[in-house]
Amino acid sequence: MKTFVYATVAFALATSVTARTFKVVNKCSYTIWPALFTDLNVAQNVPNHPTGWEQKAGKTVSFQVPDNWKAGRIWGRRSCNFSKNNGPTACLDGGCNGGLLCDKHTGTGVPPATVAEFTFQGDGNQDWYDVSLVDGFNIPMRVDNNKGCHVADCSVDLNPKCPAALRGPKDSSGKVVGCKSACVAGIGDNSNSPNCCTGSHNTAKTCPPSGVAYYDYFKKSCKNSYAYAYDESSKTALFTCPSSKKADYTITFCP
Ligand SMILES: *[C@@H]1O[C@H](CO)[C@@H](O)[C@H](O)[C@H]1NC(C)=O
Repeated sequence: MKTFVYATVAFALATSVTARTFKVVNKCSYTIWPALFTDLNVAQNVPNHPTGWEQKAGKTVSFQVPDNWKAGRIWGRRSCNFSKNNGPTACLDGGCNGGLLCDKHTGTGVPPATVAEFTFQGDGNQDWYDVSLVDGFNIPMRVDNNKGCHVADCSVDLNPKCPAALRGPKDSSGKVVGCKSACVAGIGDNSNSPNCCTGSHNTAKTCPPSGVAYYDYFKKSCKNSYAYAYDESSKTALFTCPSSKKADYTITFCP
């Protein structure tokens, strides 16, 4: 009996300290400043890593994420300079409150930005993850894993052909470095909008993809992305991996 109790305690300790390895790979030809945000309103478990860092072209950064990470997001920031500005405008796109280190409470990032989203040990004891374009697009991203679960990605650069109404920001040479969603671009009344799924359009039923302006522009090039607020119906937006498999994830920018 005693042996059994000890064994149980040892097992509990061992499992409580396991974690997933996240690898962030920058395959872009330019430096990025990845950002890492956890919604602390959902849970307090945070990765063992700063909330923002500089990552040069070709570099890989690894860190540990707790098995019970909830409501986490990772995205990339471009052309940052924090030397005289620590606010969200210190980067050309993707900037956050706080500067290099995104603020733990408010540093969610300025759209447009491609965002990888994670919730571990979610419904059905699954990892839930996606590459979201709900806030638009800035950098191609891919999320893959070492357990054979589905890839989530938007690996195509959606900036060059971004529809005029959604285009921007641009860099100093006029090159487009972001492509807003119709909701972020503020097309129509955002408080009652088929693009934002707000007001009378605030359910999956009343906010079909057919009502979202430019949905096809995003979803046709990036089938495995979460392209608007109720994109589950596409069946290729939100992916799961059994949490019992304890998958490690690789997030690649410009895959
Ligand atoms: C960053 O901004 C500072 C202050 O404006 C400027 O002196 C510096 O050259 C900038 N750095 C880069 C890499 O652009």
